[in-house]
Amino acid sequence: MSEIKRYAIVGAGGRHEMYRDAILGAYAARATLTGLCDNNVGRAQLSADWVRKEYDREIPIYESDRFDDMIRETRPDIVIVTTKDSLHDRYICRAMELGCDVITEKPMTIDAARCNAILETQRQTGKQLRVTFNYRYSPPRTQVKHLLMSGVIGPIVSVDFHWMLDTSHGADYFRRWHRNKENSGGLLVHKATHHFDLVNWWLDAAPETIYATGRRTYYVPGTAERLGLTRRSERCHDCVEAAACPFFLSLRDNPNLRALYLDQERHDGYFRDRCVFSEAIDIEDSMALTVQYTSGARMSYSLNAFMPWEGYTIVFNGLKGRIEHKCEESVYINADGSVPGALQQEGTWIRVYPHFAPAYEEPVWEAEGGHGGGDELLLQDLFQPQESADTYQRRADHCGGAWSILTGIAANRSIERGAPVRARELAPLLGDIK
Ligand SMILES: NC(=O)c1ccc[n+]([C@@H]2O[C@H](COP(=O)([O-])OP(=O)(O)OC[C@H]3O[C@@H](n4cnc5c(N)ncnc54)[C@H](O)[C@@H]3O)[C@@H](O)[C@H]2O)c1
Repeated sequence: MSEIKRYAIVGAGGRHEMYRDAILGAYAARATLTGLCDNNVGRAQLSADWVRKEYDREIPIYESDRFDDMIRETRPDIVIVTTKDSLHDRYICRAMELGCDVITEKPMTIDAARCNAILETQRQTGKQLRVTFNYRYSPPRTQVKHLLMSGVIGPIVSVDFHWMLDTSHGADYFRRWHRNKENSGGLLVHKATHHFDLVNWWLDAAPETIYATGRRTYYVPGTAERLGLTRRSERCHDCVEAAACPFFLSLRDNPNLRALYLDQERHDGYFRDRCVFSEAIDIEDSMALTVQYTSGARMSYSLNAFMPWEGYTIVFNGLKGRIEHKCEESVYINADGSVPGALQQEGTWIRVYPHFAPAYEEPVWEAEGGHGGGDELLLQDLFQPQESADTYQRRADHCGGAWSILTGIAANRSIERGAPVRARELAPLLGDIK
């Protein structure tokens, strides 16, 4: 029988449910949950109640100021960090200092100072830090890695990458804690960490120089005025414009959202349904980057968060040809009970254009479930590692986590300064590591 690993989770919101249920369900023979920690005691209790009902287990819950007690009393081997982004560093570092390995959700953290603190703590403690890039595990994205590794289009010279967030999922970032850079680092960190990680991994390269422009153009008071929403409130819950607003979100009418957020507001005052047109938002919704990579490749990248469909197009221009890949995702909002980011088969394709030969379409590797089919495969690799070889180098450590955020952190700085920024200078500890 294999060794049972002990896990504790900090951050009991929407995302933690996937890890909790994997540990107590599909991987119960290899994993056990020792404790749950959150600053919102109601949300932690909700999760513990679910565990009692579904798995007949009692899981101790700890408020955030008792994180150390959770580690000492429940003795986890590994801490899973699923709090809001700006708190990842706090729990990653403390867990490693207390002798635990760590699995963290993306982004590893949101700025250069916190990134360097994590790298320094990892170096001092020698603990293992894993960043869970589920997008790498999505079969079509792994297939692109497979094609690039095969050398079918030769060394990559340039990449054109354009990501669309729609008016459902994209708009949702402007309602939640993500709407302020102090919490999320903005979409260039919070969301694009996935995209920049994919490119680092696909190209097997690191970002060198980043030039970015960006601003908020759609989620602004002027759009509300254009839509005739003149009496809007600070949140949907009590907004008199609800019937007229295409962005109205009812926490009351969705059982998942009501239980997870509306019913827990009394504990921390967090509103998950703030107005998407609010002046208090300080993240961009339209951004464009030029990135130079260590391999010599260049990338043109854009991210727009108010598009009619969600997904991306990417083109790799190589010395022997070109690969074009498009991916369309389902419509959803976070933690509403639907499958997040499922692929739309008819909108997903991979085409190879070799030099001096006919172009052809690759049958796309099948993908089912959350985040392009990546979630299930990621969980399998996390909780049953010895049974799956890492042929496609999908496991990411602190270095992969750092490189993936450095493009966005540099881009934020570039937007502020109006000048290019070198990624390596932001995190000197990364040294010569790719
Ligand atoms: N890889 C993916 O596809 C994916 C998808 C969704 C979310 N995520 C990541 O998961 C993380 C959580 O996102 P979510 O959607 O669950 O958000 P959420 O808002 O539902 O949950 C965040 C949780 O953090 C808790 N928290 C806030 N302050 C805290 C503190 N001081 N100490 C402990 N806990 C605290 C909140 O109470 C909440 O329960 C984020 O980092 C996000 O980027 C990743």
